[in-house]
Amino acid sequence: MKIRVLLLTLVCSLAFGTGAYAADKETELGSKMEKMGGAFRALRRQISDASKNEDSLAKLKTIRDMAEASLKLDPAMKADKPAGEQKKFVESYQADMKKFLAKVDAVVAAVKAGKNDEAAKLCGELGDMQKAGHKQYKKPDDKKK
Ligand code: HEM
Repeated sequence: MKIRVLLLTLVCSLAFGTGAYAADKETELGSKMEKMGGAFRALRRQISDASKNEDSLAKLKTIRDMAEASLKLDPAMKADKPAGEQKKFVESYQADMKKFLAKVDAVVAAVKAGKNDEAAKLCGELGDMQKAGHKQYKKPDDKKK
């Protein structure tokens, strides 16, 4: 009897453990986003400081490269959509990512022109696009991140 209880516990913990792992598994898109996140956090702290413009342009390049790469990857949420809606879902995601890229280019232009106030304002808009993009295309399970 005791051994059965032990076996049952073992089976349950294995099943639960695997489930937890699956939920935490990072996607390729997720890893591009993580890199974008690191650069964006640093950028927001220094965007108003003209003495850091050179480094800000480097951070913007990372964000741009990661957003370009993200454009070629489908959000994990696609799989939760009915087959008939998946194409539209991905097209809408790509259109929003292109708008995001255009905004990144606008920040680059403002920094290059030495307009740091303008760059800071546009940077805030990138943050708004991040929030909207995550609300629409990121699986609810991932929202804790
Ligand atoms: C400053 C802009 C952005 C930053 C810093 C950012 C950052 C992040 C981070 C840290 C994650 C979690 C990664 C993980 O789970 O490992 C994530 C996930 C995600 N983000 Fe962004 N993001 C930004 C903009 C956007 C935009 C504009 C979109 C859509 C147009 C978007 C779509 C997604 C999606 C779909 C995921 C889930 C990953 C997947 O489905 O595989 N993000 N993002």
